[in-house]
Amino acid sequence: MHRRLVGGSKWRDDIALSASISILKLSGPLLGIRGKYRSMLNVFPTLDALSEAAAQRVAELLTSEEPDRPYLVALSGGSTPKQLHTLLATTYRDEIPWKRVHLFWGDERWVPHQSPDSNYRMADETLIRDIPLPFGNIHPVQTGLSTPLASAEAYEREINTFLRELDRPGLDLVILGMGDDGHTASLFPGTPVLHERHRLVAAMEAPPYAKVKDRVTFTYPLINRSRHILFLAAGEKKREPLTAILNDREEALKQYPAAGVEGLVTTEWFVDEAAVGRKAA
Ligand code: 6PG
Repeated sequence: MHRRLVGGSKWRDDIALSASISILKLSGPLLGIRGKYRSMLNVFPTLDALSEAAAQRVAELLTSEEPDRPYLVALSGGSTPKQLHTLLATTYRDEIPWKRVHLFWGDERWVPHQSPDSNYRMADETLIRDIPLPFGNIHPVQTGLSTPLASAEAYEREINTFLRELDRPGLDLVILGMGDDGHTASLFPGTPVLHERHRLVAAMEAPPYAKVKDRVTFTYPLINRSRHILFLAAGEKKREPLTAILNDREEALKQYPAAGVEGLVTTEWFVDEAAVGRKAA
């Protein structure tokens, strides 16, 4: 695996501190930049290679700690994670203790689950139907409610209840992609949801160039209280936002929402050469 450290070689290990933050006190301290950005950049020649490495990393996380401890994962939409999903459902299928894994979605297009635009459907076709995941461990956004807001509020309640019961500040792993415009989940540039400091999940309207306008998304306050963040980005179109984020995250945040994301323990980028504009080491 080709690894390169960016912004420091040591992971922050302040999870003990973060665990003491009550989920009820969501007054925004975990929004956006909170000091030095400690991320790890992993560059691979191709999308195939980055998917292999990302699958290995996800499997490592899902098999870590006590095997019975519930492990809360949020999946991403888009097309980049499809190969990662397939590898988890084949190569790593038998080694992952699926019973402990709970799947959520970092964002969802507000369409029926059977729609070709549904992030739930993509995950079902590439991962869920091929793994022994108990039905009760699948937590999609309910897009059949009366409005996107009703779906967002219901999802927030479900996540909040879950986190309270487990006495956790956030999820264990959030897998994210990044759009050409630097959006991540459904945190699009210039949208009011970027300023959300209280809600964990919000309904939002994506800009006209996005595939589906009505969306439900995790907000920064929820994403940034996850332990591990894994970003996947492939292709030349991601180069501009990625370069900006790696060069000067604070400056990049003015334009690219993905810059505002940081995990409590790790933030790892798995990118291909085209996205970063240089060869893998
Ligand atoms: C969505 C997403 C979104 C996605 C990026 C990257 O539902 O649209 O979750 O944030 O991850 O747009 O998409 P690609 O992987 O297709 O480039």
